[in-house]
Amino acid sequence: MSLSPNSILDRVIEATIIPSFTSIGPNARRKLFDWKPLDEYDLTGQTVVLTGGTSGIGEEGAEILANLGATLVIVARDQVKTEATVDRIKAATGNPEISYVLADLGKQDDVRAAATQLAVAHPTIHTLIHNAGALFPKRRLAENGTDLAVELMVAAPFLLTGMLLPQLKAAGPGRVLTMSSGGMYSQPLSVSQLEMPEDSYNGAQQYARAKRAQVVLTEMWAQRTDPSQVVFHSLHPGWVDTPGVSEALPGFSKILGPLHLLRSPQDGADTMVWLTADPAALESTGDFWHDRQVRSTHKLPTTRNSDTPERRKRLWEWCQNHTGFELRK
Ligand SMILES: NC(=O)c1ccc[n+]([C@@H]2O[C@H](COP(=O)([O-])OP(=O)(O)OC[C@H]3O[C@@H](n4cnc5c(N)ncnc54)[C@H](OP(=O)(O)O)[C@@H]3O)[C@@H](O)[C@H]2O)c1
Repeated sequence: MSLSPNSILDRVIEATIIPSFTSIGPNARRKLFDWKPLDEYDLTGQTVVLTGGTSGIGEEGAEILANLGATLVIVARDQVKTEATVDRIKAATGNPEISYVLADLGKQDDVRAAATQLAVAHPTIHTLIHNAGALFPKRRLAENGTDLAVELMVAAPFLLTGMLLPQLKAAGPGRVLTMSSGGMYSQPLSVSQLEMPEDSYNGAQQYARAKRAQVVLTEMWAQRTDPSQVVFHSLHPGWVDTPGVSEALPGFSKILGPLHLLRSPQDGADTMVWLTADPAALESTGDFWHDRQVRSTHKLPTTRNSDTPERRKRLWEWCQNHTGFELRK
């Protein structure tokens, strides 16, 4: 396959990581590939369910989706904050079709209740976006004793996806998007150490392990689902200036912020919204995206070697056993 000069330049940017993940990435790629502006898409009549729509990338993405006319449901945990976000987005966009469902995604009972509520209110869901996530510098446990990063970013998306499959299939095809992180490039696929033990806990590593699992599970859902019914994609947003980053990684914000190297939340949300709106997302399934292009899921031989069929099988079994959701053909 011969590559165009612009594609070669894109790959050079990607291989060197810093230009790719920072604000340089979207600025260069927007021009290289003549990106269609998001405001040229129309999502009228499309139901989009988005987790983590009350801050950062998710809040910005919610506003863009609302501007495109989507019927948007934000799944979030804090009633006062969520109501304020929904009111603000309705006022800013003039779109009245914005609602919310309350759920703390670190609690499986909440996830189950939210899925039931969503399924009743929305028999057809065109896109489900798993955007909620967090890096916990100090180890935190969910109510059920599981590491909170794993419960929030691995178990909750698995359960919500599984319970909403009929509504996604009704969209024929529905789309499931999972916001991972470029941090996952640093971590192998590990099931026995998916939850780091207390004595060797490292927040960034724990986060990256959960993010690696999200990418692998996206591929596994895609292998198990007819793409004419539902397609699955994961993506990473680069390094984005959000409350999540300034709280969890203040040093990172202090260094990259003044250099204007962190992406704006708009640029952080771009590929998430684009995958919701563009037909390109329906042409494949199980891919990992960054800046509107499919990217490799490994940059290191060690992580590639860790990603074995046997570990994948154990990860899927872990999710099924942990959530009680079993996929039946
Ligand atoms: N910013 C980056 O550079 C970057 C890089 C790579 C990947 N990401 C990923 O992008 C996604 C968004 O990140 P962000 O930077 O925009 O973070 P953020 O500003 O901290 O927003 C995170 C969102 O997740 C929600 N959330 C967290 N825990 C939750 C829980 N237990 N139940 C329900 N909702 C919960 C938050 O709700 P509240 O508003 O209630 O707190 C908030 O809406 C995350 O998955 C993150 O890992 C971000």
